[in-house]
Amino acid sequence: MIDSLITIAYLVAAALFIFGLKRLSSPRTARAGNRMAAVGMLVAVVAALFEEQILNPVELIAGLALGGAIGLLLARRTKMTSMPELVAAFNGFGGAASAFVAAAEVMRFAGGEEEIIPFTPILALTIALSVLIGAVTFSGSFVAFGKLNGKVKSMGFPGLRVISILVGLGVIGAAAIMVQQAEVFPVEIEMTTTALLALAGLALVLGIFLVLPIGGADMPVVVALLNSYSGLAAAATGFVLQNYALIVSGALVGASGLILTMIMCDAMNRSLLNVLLGGFGAEATKASAKSGDEEERPVRQTSPDDAAVLMSYAGSVIIVPGYGLAVAQAQHEVREMADLLQKEGVEVRYAIHPVAGRMPGHMNVLLAEANVSYDLLVEMDDINADFPSTDVVLVVGANDVVNPAARTDEDSPIYGMPILNVDEAENVIVLKRSMNTGYAGVQNELFFNPKTSMLFGDAKDSVSGIISELKELQTA
Ligand code: TAP
Repeated sequence: MIDSLITIAYLVAAALFIFGLKRLSSPRTARAGNRMAAVGMLVAVVAALFEEQILNPVELIAGLALGGAIGLLLARRTKMTSMPELVAAFNGFGGAASAFVAAAEVMRFAGGEEEIIPFTPILALTIALSVLIGAVTFSGSFVAFGKLNGKVKSMGFPGLRVISILVGLGVIGAAAIMVQQAEVFPVEIEMTTTALLALAGLALVLGIFLVLPIGGADMPVVVALLNSYSGLAAAATGFVLQNYALIVSGALVGASGLILTMIMCDAMNRSLLNVLLGGFGAEATKASAKSGDEEERPVRQTSPDDAAVLMSYAGSVIIVPGYGLAVAQAQHEVREMADLLQKEGVEVRYAIHPVAGRMPGHMNVLLAEANVSYDLLVEMDDINADFPSTDVVLVVGANDVVNPAARTDEDSPIYGMPILNVDEAENVIVLKRSMNTGYAGVQNELFFNPKTSMLFGDAKDSVSGIISELKELQTA
């Protein structure tokens, strides 16, 4: 009876994960999806506690309170611009947890409980895989974390790849010893635990070596990939424990993390291999050096007052948010400005590029925080045809995602990346602080286009200036 209830609970949890994940695909349903998946996890945890008879309430509540408090503290203290760091840290902890749980199975065996779980070669291999992926995810994620917050610099040295291959061979050797030990009887438990510890140590080194040479700017893609690894580690641990909920949830995280990684690579027109081998960073440095002389070219400048007048007399305005919006934290001001324009009868929409900002859905999350209606957010593929009939495009801290070189300049590192065709609009106003390049390190021809006016300054200050003028115009 209790076994059937546990199986049903796992099934319910798996269904909640799948429907929750489905709902995450639209900003409108994402919150509900998140809650649904969280309830699924609670159901799975409770079922696992009953199944494994781990019901010591003091330990449980202490663990829950400690983990919850750390999570809450980290999430509250993290700024929107540092969200990828938080995700990297959570991935790292997820990988470590999977590795620890799988390793604990060997320790349990070492404690003389072999009759509970027969130590078969397949179990040994699964434990080795789980510890390998979990440890690589842990150390790789914390290198990514350090790079994202600027504390760890990208590093590569001659022979790093050869050393990584040697470390990888060491990992295979340690796993082979574990499998071979499972085949002999009686098992030499000391040998098995030594091989397990060696494997874990080598896997930690491998994680560091794999992520260290990748350019810091490519970290968001690496974090998505490591997220996928953390799912694979959890699924492998699920096989070790024969826990279906862990297998299903791990497989879902593994698959969705990989899909997300591929979407990010596609939107940047890069292959995963190119990201992992660090190609873009090198090209970007070359490109930014080249862009130095172009900055001398004159650009047309405008003021908040003129921008306000132009937009208030427009029929349609499209706002293009980018990474600078997140840096300036100007989302509330942008929303207030849009409200004022709408009051004047101007049609206002937001054009959302899939990789604007530094993490998937970055712009959606920022604008949702300012309560911008989801109906006004239009995806790139749906809005690109509307630019030629748009009076004013207001680019707020976006750069690469509106760079026409992606369409026209075959030598540009971003050539082929799908962009928002804002240069087709009647007028373009660009809000940024300087002529500095964006993430890809390439200069943007849009800024030199005669249709474009640059409004230099912090985006929050510039939008506040526009708001003041709009208010004056409306009371005049
Ligand atoms: P970027 O090309 O990075 O440009 C952002 C611009 O914002 C900069 O040129 C900067 O110019 C400006 N800016 C910074 N702080 C500002 C502030 N306080 N006020 C006003 N402007 C400010 O951003 P994007 O157009 O959003 O493109 C995103 C890039 O990141 C793409 O190349 C994409 O491939 C890459 N990427 C994205 C992701 C995801 S998933 N979103 C992941 C990895 C990589 P100033 O310094 O002159 O102000």
